Amino acid sequence: MRIVLGIESSCDETAAALVTQDRVILAQRIASQDQAHRPYGGVVPEIAARAHAERLAPLIEATLADAGMTLADVDAVAATAGPGLIGGVMVGLVTAKALAMAADKPLIAINHLEGHALSPRLADAALAYPYLLLLVSGGHCQLLLVEGVGRYRRLATTIDDALGEAFDKTAKLLGLGYPGGPAVERLAAQGDAGAVPLPRPLVGSAEPHFSFAGLKSAVMRAKQAGVHQNADIAAAFQQAAIDCLIDRTRRALAAAGPVNALVVAGGVAANTAIRAALEALAADRGLPFVAPPLGLCTDNAAMIAWAGIERLALGQSDPLDIMARPRWPL
Ligand code: KG4
Ligand code: ZN
Repeated sequence: MRIVLGIESSCDETAAALVTQDRVILAQRIASQDQAHRPYGGVVPEIAARAHAERLAPLIEATLADAGMTLADVDAVAATAGPGLIGGVMVGLVTAKALAMAADKPLIAINHLEGHALSPRLADAALAYPYLLLLVSGGHCQLLLVEGVGRYRRLATTIDDALGEAFDKTAKLLGLGYPGGPAVERLAAQGDAGAVPLPRPLVGSAEPHFSFAGLKSAVMRAKQAGVHQNADIAAAFQQAAIDCLIDRTRRALAAAGPVNALVVAGGVAANTAIRAALEALAADRGLPFVAPPLGLCTDNAAMIAWAGIERLALGQSDPLDIMARPRWPL
């Protein structure tokens, strides 16, 4: 039974996990830096890098202890090698290199987006390639045709902001603090989406991509107008975002050819209204809808360990001099 130690440090979560080939998460720990970044209303790269450097080694030790294991028991060390905030990525990757070298285990450098893309297969053993993946997070908004490990066809991406970013900016504007997504979702549940007219950028367009900058500006104008309830603005924003996601996903499904499932991943996939809308679209197309459990949607190390398991099964590993990459398209 293969076991991989996964390490994630590309944004503001310091995380480690031990995952087996048969999809058991033996142990995982996540240290969030929300408190450290809250006063700034967003992630400060320098603060994040320092926090990762302070926390990662004890966190890995604790994760191994939780599982009653030592490094000798793992088959490989997998770490996010990009894309992300380069200081944090370097902390995780250098730590993984040191552990791999000390314990004489293979190192596997994982693309963070691949971690998200394969995470549904950790949760669902029956999910077979190819599937259409909507990856929606704070840094990304993409539709990917996932055909196999390392075989990803990008059908659409955002031409400006990621949807998570738009959620976070909306939260800031409404005075909801950071991180914003869950707070906007809670407030939206009390509002009337029809009370505030907002645009749906690119809906109905033949072009495949996403755009959220115009929606974000419209939210700002609605707030500045001073006549709307915050809850109504939150609800209208969330509904506009859902309409954009559904329209673009419907278009991608038509372009993708036959797929086995519609899958959503990334932090924004934690949003229950978005999940429900995607589930309805999948049902309409006669497709299974797959969404990983909430804890696997936001940044975590189990998805990195799992991507390591999938790569290890194909005999893949990486040299110890592999570099961290701030930008790394799938
Ligand atoms: O995948 P993730 O943890 O980190 C990135 O790689 O970006 O995603 C974080 C993003 C943040 O923008 C956060 O506001 C958003 O996911 N998010 C949500 C919800 N929970 C987290 N957005 C909308 N509704 C939610 N419930
Ligand atoms: Zn992420």
